[in-house]
Amino acid sequence: MTEEDIEGALSTILIPGVKRNLIQLNMLREVVIQDGEVKVNLAQAGLEAQAKDWVKEKVIAAVKEIPGAGNVEVEISDVKAQEINKIDRIIAVMSGKGGVGKSLVAGLLGVALARKGKEVGILDADITGPSIPKMFGIGERPTGAETGILPILSRSGIEVISINLLLPQEDDAVIWRGPLISKTIQQFWEDVVWGKLDFLVVDLPPGTADAALTVMQSLPLSGVIIVSTPQELAAMIVRKAVKMTEKMNTPVLGVVENMSYFVTPDSGKRIDVFGKSKAQEMAGAARAPLLAQIPIDPKIAELCDEGRIENYDSDILGSFSDKFFEQIGK
Ligand SMILES: Nc1ncnc2c1ncn2[C@@H]1O[C@H](COP(=O)(O)OP(=O)(O)O)[C@@H](O)[C@H]1O
Ligand SMILES: [Mg+2]
Repeated sequence: MTEEDIEGALSTILIPGVKRNLIQLNMLREVVIQDGEVKVNLAQAGLEAQAKDWVKEKVIAAVKEIPGAGNVEVEISDVKAQEINKIDRIIAVMSGKGGVGKSLVAGLLGVALARKGKEVGILDADITGPSIPKMFGIGERPTGAETGILPILSRSGIEVISINLLLPQEDDAVIWRGPLISKTIQQFWEDVVWGKLDFLVVDLPPGTADAALTVMQSLPLSGVIIVSTPQELAAMIVRKAVKMTEKMNTPVLGVVENMSYFVTPDSGKRIDVFGKSKAQEMAGAARAPLLAQIPIDPKIAELCDEGRIENYDSDILGSFSDKFFEQIGK
């Protein structure tokens, strides 16, 4: 019996609520094997007492199945969510104003990365509405305990949490004032139990105001993706955003143009609905690559409305993640 055998056994145990296993949640701290006796030390955040007991029993049962295992002892210690979290890269998605498709781009980036086999989480820090949960068809309130809040797993295995799902009422959000939003986002960041993730995509509040700044200051971001449309004064917005990222010492990883064009279904002709693309201009202003140009696609609107964005089927997604990996060197 080796430590790997035990890790293997533990990775079959799915934590209730999140539906990810012990290893993915980064709960294993230590395994001691001596003369067939096994001691397993786990750390946890976000589980209630009953769930902890359940996990303990499951671990004992799973380890006892391993040939050669004798007595099994399990200890679970409560820690802060931040001690559980092991996130490789945090990417924030930013825009000048609302309604340009920032949440869509955050959602599609998450989907694109998950399709490449990455462990992905999406943190919806946009207090102006629960667009991310809606897009992914998530409506339930996240569960948790004193020690932390557990994200909700989407159909394709993306961990999702939205600050809006924790507010008493969706509509309350609009009357929130800047400093309060900032404080809430900060707390929220500290309390979510993600476990191990390759990527955490953050849907920032629109604009370069308070709330966006807080997120950038309180989260160890790897970089920012800027979203704009051909309708906007794209270069100006990008410059403003770039200035902010420079102040925060966070690189711009790339830009995405949304609603770039429309392809007529009958003739397949490409129409620049909002005039000429500003994508190159944006990329130039950001001194970062153009990662994607997303067309106006009725299928996108339909899937967003139905909560099935994960079903979006387009070559754009593959090329989006390829260019993204190229940029971050993976
Ligand atoms: N490229 C697109 N094609 C079709 N509909 C889109 C597109 N981008 C956005 N939408 C629609 O606009 C809505 C608003 O987009 P969203 O990403 O929530 O904007 P933001 O987060 O910038 O406020 C989406 O729910 C979707 O229905
Ligand atoms: Mg949004």
